[in-house]
Amino acid sequence: MSAVEEKLAASLTASTTELVPYLPYLLQDLWEMGSSPTDILELIAGNTVVSTETRVLDLGCGKGAVSIRLAQELGCSVTGIDLMPEFIAYARSKAQEYGVEAQCRFEVGDINESVKYERAYDIVILGAVGDVLGDSLETILNLSATVRPGGYIFIDDAYGADGGDARYHSRDQWLGVFAAAKVRLVAEKIVDPRDVVATNTFTQDHITKRADELAAMHPEKARMFEEYVKCQQAECDELENEMTGVTLLLQTA
Ligand SMILES: C[S@@+](CC[C@H](N)C(=O)[O-])C[C@H]1O[C@@H](n2cnc3c(N)ncnc32)[C@H](O)[C@@H]1O
Repeated sequence: MSAVEEKLAASLTASTTELVPYLPYLLQDLWEMGSSPTDILELIAGNTVVSTETRVLDLGCGKGAVSIRLAQELGCSVTGIDLMPEFIAYARSKAQEYGVEAQCRFEVGDINESVKYERAYDIVILGAVGDVLGDSLETILNLSATVRPGGYIFIDDAYGADGGDARYHSRDQWLGVFAAAKVRLVAEKIVDPRDVVATNTFTQDHITKRADELAAMHPEKARMFEEYVKCQQAECDELENEMTGVTLLLQTA
């Protein structure tokens, strides 16, 4: 199994790539799948100058919830790239529904490839995609290459507690990475814990229902779907208790 597919599964909290074909079914009730379009919109509006000329790159765009909101509210143009064809098809239909299809280009692709040739954007977004582009420093360097000098980078990630779980950088560790990558932290928006609980409840309810349906359709795989629900719950618990979700706005030199 390829490393790309393993990271794809992990980015959607699946512990096995065997689940990948079932993810569109499991996640069919969700449009937003990680980042808050409202938070990103607020950070852009409060810290950057945007016009109809502004070009945004949304890497691992999922079903396009962030891209479409930005196109709609800011009039900018957006390129969204995701590995899951079903998500891209959904994003394209949503762009039409919202009347922003002329501003949006949604493509199926591996963002590890996209970062090698997508260039000169004003803003790049990596929303809740995890370590697909490498460790935190490699991720920021890869993202930096896609924007013009002085361009902006959004990363939706988390702050771990100092001395806590080594998988999550503390805020100080993130600051060290920004310095090494020569990017400036412009603004950060901590996710409101009440929103975390509300989102987790909504997500978990829908995923559990869909997992039960899949288990009824494929009894031989029932354990795998049950396991997925458990992994989702564990991630919800982590988000509520062990780390702080944060949207970071960075600027390149
Ligand atoms: C948790 S979702 C976040 C989606 C979106 N950014 C949002 O916030 O709604 C992570 C996304 O990363 C995508 N992904 C993971 N690995 C990828 C890769 N190598 N290339 C493109 N997309 C990838 C997944 O398909 C999934 O849509």
